[in-house]
Amino acid sequence: MALIDNNGSHELLGADASGQLVIHAPTTAPLRQPPRKSRWPARLDMLQSASGLFLALFLMAHMFFVSSILISHDAFYTVARFFEGAYFLGKPYPILVSGVVSIILAVFIGHAWLAMRKFPAGYRQYRAFVTHKNSLRHGDTSLWWLQIWTGFALFFMATIHLYDMLTQPALIGPYESADRVWTGNMWPLYLMLLFAAELHASVGLYRLAIKWGWFTAATPNRSRRRLRWAKHGISAFFITLGLVTLAAYVDLGRAHAERAGERYVPTYLNAPHTAGKH
Ligand code: HEM
Repeated sequence: MALIDNNGSHELLGADASGQLVIHAPTTAPLRQPPRKSRWPARLDMLQSASGLFLALFLMAHMFFVSSILISHDAFYTVARFFEGAYFLGKPYPILVSGVVSIILAVFIGHAWLAMRKFPAGYRQYRAFVTHKNSLRHGDTSLWWLQIWTGFALFFMATIHLYDMLTQPALIGPYESADRVWTGNMWPLYLMLLFAAELHASVGLYRLAIKWGWFTAATPNRSRRRLRWAKHGISAFFITLGLVTLAAYVDLGRAHAERAGERYVPTYLNAPHTAGKH
């Protein structure tokens, strides 16, 4: 006898030997509900976007603070002491910088952990994606690839820098930073970190804007074109600013190499022999 499950309602139809339609009573077997879809993937996606946005905005602000060395040595000194609370707590507390670094480090690790969900798992997935990417030749797919690689590089490079800042918060200043960059041999790391971080951040912001529909234009193609220009502009601006700033630290570090380790005293504290450009 054939049984037909009527849309899973358990109202079963059948036919007896003579072909007569028979309606069977609903069974008492418990219904198997389709499993409720978990909301966690969406929540994790949201967290990844929010942490990425936070880090990208932090990075932009950070570049402006660090590049204050281009204004004058005193300007950078003032910014560094400001973050140590010197102007509102009476004296500098470098531990405050360590506190901020800990927050950034925690968000950075969380963001990397969330991003790892999307990394290709194993060689077969990796090959499948590369083949797919090469055949598709779609700009956004290639950008995703660039983000995977720059993100992977940031795992290592940003962690070294953050550890430095966490453990030596008091050694931030014109001479202190320039000595670290040049005499401390940090400039090659900063150079690579600059490109990886700026490309990763600008591609990340672009992808966020596409994903959440920010700054849309009349047509999807026009939106995409507009966002691409913004992305290129942001990368070019911050990479240029970063390179010029890094060159300034290298310059000062080289000039100060003989006296590496000496602390900077701002001109307004009246120490003529340590005065920098102002
Ligand atoms: C709260 C956390 C951070 C602090 C306090 C900090 C502070 C600094 C300081 C003081 C410098 C100047 C050089 C030196 O003193 O060694 C610098 C340079 C740099 N930082 Fe950070 N940083 C932080 C987080 C980050 C993050 C998360 C990134 C990237 C992912 C980053 C990327 C860079 C780069 C690329 C340079 C070189 C500057 C240039 O090329 O102009 N920093 N940072």
